[in-house]
Amino acid sequence: MYTIEITGGRPLCGSTRVQGAKNSVLPILAATVLCEGTSVIRGCPYLEDVACALEILECAGCKCRREGDAVTVDASVIRKSRIPDALMHKMRSSITFLGAMTARCGKAEMSFPGGCELGPRPIDLHIKALREIGIRVTEKGGCVRAETGDFAGGRVHLDFPSVGATENLMMAATLSRGETVLTNAAKEPEICDLQSFLNKMGARISGAGTDEIRIEGVSRLHGAEHRVIPDRIVAATYLCAGAMTGGQIELRETEPEHIGAVLSVLRDTGAQVETHGDRIRLKAPSRLNAIKLLRTMPYPGFPTDAQALVTAMLTLGEGTSMVEETIFENRFKHCGELCRMGADITTRGRIAVIRGVTHLTGARVEAMELRGGAALVIAGLAAEGVTEVRGTAHIDRGYDTFLEDMQALGASIMKREAGACICQKRDEGI
Ligand code: UD1
Repeated sequence: MYTIEITGGRPLCGSTRVQGAKNSVLPILAATVLCEGTSVIRGCPYLEDVACALEILECAGCKCRREGDAVTVDASVIRKSRIPDALMHKMRSSITFLGAMTARCGKAEMSFPGGCELGPRPIDLHIKALREIGIRVTEKGGCVRAETGDFAGGRVHLDFPSVGATENLMMAATLSRGETVLTNAAKEPEICDLQSFLNKMGARISGAGTDEIRIEGVSRLHGAEHRVIPDRIVAATYLCAGAMTGGQIELRETEPEHIGAVLSVLRDTGAQVETHGDRIRLKAPSRLNAIKLLRTMPYPGFPTDAQALVTAMLTLGEGTSMVEETIFENRFKHCGELCRMGADITTRGRIAVIRGVTHLTGARVEAMELRGGAALVIAGLAAEGVTEVRGTAHIDRGYDTFLEDMQALGASIMKREAGACICQKRDEGI
């Protein structure tokens, strides 16, 4: 595995585009198994998690083909509704296949996703929701098994607006006999994108983006074509990098409405932020303001996935900032690494107190999870001297052309393997 080497201290400057959303592509790829037809999904980034979703589809019997950013999935024949453990372990969000596989095949089986870098990843809400619409779900020996049984839909209330549970329920209920009403549903833009794709396949779903989603079951779906929404967390990453380096950047192919909470925080730091259609322009202030208290919340609140990035940015704020992580238990692992670069952060439980410093210094640091890893990269862009980021496999799970995009904005950043500079390889096929 390669490391990322950054010679920091240059303000980012210029314009770049933003990839398609990982968290939209994954459930949408799972949804392609709901019909006995062919779907084309555009805007698919080249990511480890996307490759893993395609492996799961192939393993089930689908035929997948990639041409550029378009992935074609022919789900005419599904041979297997059990997801191999190796693929479940590769990507925790494979659980998003549970609802779709069960609805299509009448049954599905997969191992429990277990904990991950962010702490425990329970699926109790997924299971409870599926049971409430008539699906029989059993857990045994670390495996979860679902069978459709009398699958009539029903009323479901989520105790917490879980993104994954909302997606699983939407996909399963789409092929039920009756109507399902889901309350306290997640409202993330990726839920709206999934509704939009499912409706193109012939589903009858309304209400995504509000806390009540109605799904009228249909007897069959057909293949559809869809372009996924832009990745709001990648956009947030690039904007934080721009702000942190004292830069002036423009992002194209974004959906500014999806990151309203992030733009608001950036404006509070003193950055000038303007939006024009699908473009976002940011001009950093000479010194960033601290943020009194930032709390992660379900959408439309501040996204937990952008927490590490903003934490990194606030290390250079003028004064003390406080960040509270309310969604995941263990999401401050990057803070220790940022401190190796000269940041002054104290964490206690779910709170991080960040005392702003005037500069960071390049260091050897280790990415321990996806967004925390990206936070180290943007810190490296702002730091004086050379930063080497290891553990880059985590970063590859969510960023397609991170290094190229940063280079386009003038950064000195490259991949190194055994001392040599390497270029990114792209393979067609899956
Ligand atoms: C999705 C995103 C992830 C993002 C998260 C929150 C994908 C592939 N991943 O993850 O990037 O960080 O939303 O915006 O889209 N929970 C339970 N029981 C459950 C399910 C969840 O207790 O059955 C808890 C989780 O432990 C966590 C919280 O609910 O504390 C949020 O989880 P959830 O919204 O389900 O996140 P994911 O769908 O896993």
